Amino acid sequence: MSLLVEKRILLGVTGGIAAYKSCELTRLLILAGASVRVVMTRAATAFVAPLSFQALSGNPVHLDLLDSEEESAMGHIRLARWADLILIAPATADFMAKLRAGLADELLGAVCLAAEVPIALAPAMNHAMWSNPATQDNAACLVARGMSLLGPAEGGQACGESGYGRMLEPADICRAVEKFFSRSQLSGISVLISAGPTREPIDPVRYLTNRSSGKMGYCLAQAAIAAGAKVTVVSGPVALPPPYDAAVVRVESAADMFDAVMSLAPHQDIYIGTAAVADYTPVAVAEEKIKKSKESLAIQLTRTRDILAAVASLPNKPYTVGFAAETDHVEAYAKAKLEGKGLDMIAANRVGQPEGGFDSPDNALWVAWNGGETVLPLASKQTIAIQLIELISENYRAKHSTKNSG
Ligand code: CTP
Repeated sequence: MSLLVEKRILLGVTGGIAAYKSCELTRLLILAGASVRVVMTRAATAFVAPLSFQALSGNPVHLDLLDSEEESAMGHIRLARWADLILIAPATADFMAKLRAGLADELLGAVCLAAEVPIALAPAMNHAMWSNPATQDNAACLVARGMSLLGPAEGGQACGESGYGRMLEPADICRAVEKFFSRSQLSGISVLISAGPTREPIDPVRYLTNRSSGKMGYCLAQAAIAAGAKVTVVSGPVALPPPYDAAVVRVESAADMFDAVMSLAPHQDIYIGTAAVADYTPVAVAEEKIKKSKESLAIQLTRTRDILAAVASLPNKPYTVGFAAETDHVEAYAKAKLEGKGLDMIAANRVGQPEGGFDSPDNALWVAWNGGETVLPLASKQTIAIQLIELISENYRAKHSTKNSG
């Protein structure tokens, strides 16, 4: 039986050419057993007639904030309360900006503002509009508030150009919505995530650090929360808003991070080590600022403790996921870390390239676990995070069902 049976989906259609695909999406959602009510923005009606959605959904289409007609006069609050999920497909750049700003000048904006249920967006726009920092910033902010992004996909676009920005195909959106309802997969599961860089003090004003922005870890935290998990983030210094609904423990040095993670890890179901922990730290921290005197200065460094390996060797270890940043032989080095550190899963990315990885909004991962491997192709870190959390939860469940049946 489909997970969509008896689910109430409020489909928001905004004004993009991909709106025509939402007719098929409506049909597929209905076929899967969902009840669908459609809210269209004014711009959307320039692409598809409301009557099409009315015929396909079997319900009147909601258009105006101040509609007085009896049948479609289900006000924005009632519409927001009716839904189990608000799905906005296509979600234009303009609508995402309005959603971020909390504008309620049209019915759909008002419904979203009044919503207490999850909101998922299937962005659709020109690739340059999608990669524009304004849109990326809006997308990151909406995800940080707990909304889910489905796509966008890469490929040819209506304007004749090509790149990321295509709306996912209706069947893929339908599958993603089904997964969305199965996401309670992680409900009741505790997830600990380390994120960001560490700072290794040299003297009271100087430290050694790296380029990690913490974004991958924060996106994973948001995706795990959306999947129903109880999330704690142990975070090095980053310039990101805290993930909505997660507990955040702030640390600076690798030693602080080790202590924080090791005090929490024994009580967790899953540990994901995304932090770029310094491998070396100064042997001694000068108590006073080091003055320049000699022509050269040597700072002696010593190895830090490997947090990930320590978590993986706990007697009652959580399901442990490591990250590997490699410049070459990505798969071989990552596999060696998976086995060498006794991990359950490793997510590896190639660094030192113009696209993806450290300090970049995008990432691509090669993921391996005992008995399987897959590639998550270059996409925004939000999208990669959602996919990786799905993979982790599937494998976590598989491991536990074998444990329980064995
Ligand atoms: N890690 C950790 N503690 C450290 C160093 C790394 O927990 N002191 C974790 C990172 O959070 C990441 C994984 O180890 O999940 C891989 O880190 P990486 O630096 O790529 O690998 P290393 O094992 O340190 O090996 P190398 O630097 O030689 O590639």
